Amino acid sequence: MNKRFVIAIDGPAASGKSTTAKQLAKRLKYVYIDTGAMYRACGLCTLLQDVDLDDEIALKKMLDTISIKIKYAKNGNRILLNNEDVSTRIREADITKLSSQIAVIGIVRKKMVELQRKMGENGGIIMDGRDIGTVVFPNADFKFFMIADVKTRALRRWKEARLKGEDISLEKIEEELIWRDKNDSTRDISPLKQAIDAIPIDTSNVTIDQQVDMIYSIVVE
Ligand code: DC
Repeated sequence: MNKRFVIAIDGPAASGKSTTAKQLAKRLKYVYIDTGAMYRACGLCTLLQDVDLDDEIALKKMLDTISIKIKYAKNGNRILLNNEDVSTRIREADITKLSSQIAVIGIVRKKMVELQRKMGENGGIIMDGRDIGTVVFPNADFKFFMIADVKTRALRRWKEARLKGEDISLEKIEEELIWRDKNDSTRDISPLKQAIDAIPIDTSNVTIDQQVDMIYSIVVE
């Protein structure tokens, strides 16, 4: 397989995108780009620079100078915001909510899409997010749309939270997922939706290895 494809994986939160994309990238020796992390970094930047989401001028100024980089590493990529490693901070609950709120803003999306297209211009990438197959790379070589029922997704996040030692109830996680799904799929610009030519993958009742195998065989065949 000599051609270096662009592979787009979209879907709602906790549908299995990033776990699958990471493993697939390893197998294909591709670069994995987590675009959700970029919106998260952007949200964190507004907090650090005290920028009000309604203040378009301040937001524009912030976006003009923002630097978001992905440092590729074997044991997990790191995300750098203005050259500082924010990989852990952006996974916290306040940033999770803020990232979904900031992702509805047109100038923010424009900037993120610009950066993402540059990162993927040479192919050999697996990019996951909400609008990769619809907006960022509408001509991607492969498009997958991952889905899973909300109870399964909430349980996955709850288990992850427990492993990290976080004390949060399953109900609260489910509530937050439902809020985020709604916010991400009902916004005016680039809402979360399946591209018409994307292959749907339901991960509710399959293991991670099975998900990866499914996509891998479609790509290599
Ligand atoms: O994938 P994630 O949960 O880390 O994404 C965080 C938020 O970023 C998500 O709620 C919506 C937004 N997002 C987006 O609007 N478009 C993308 N391509 C990726 C993420």
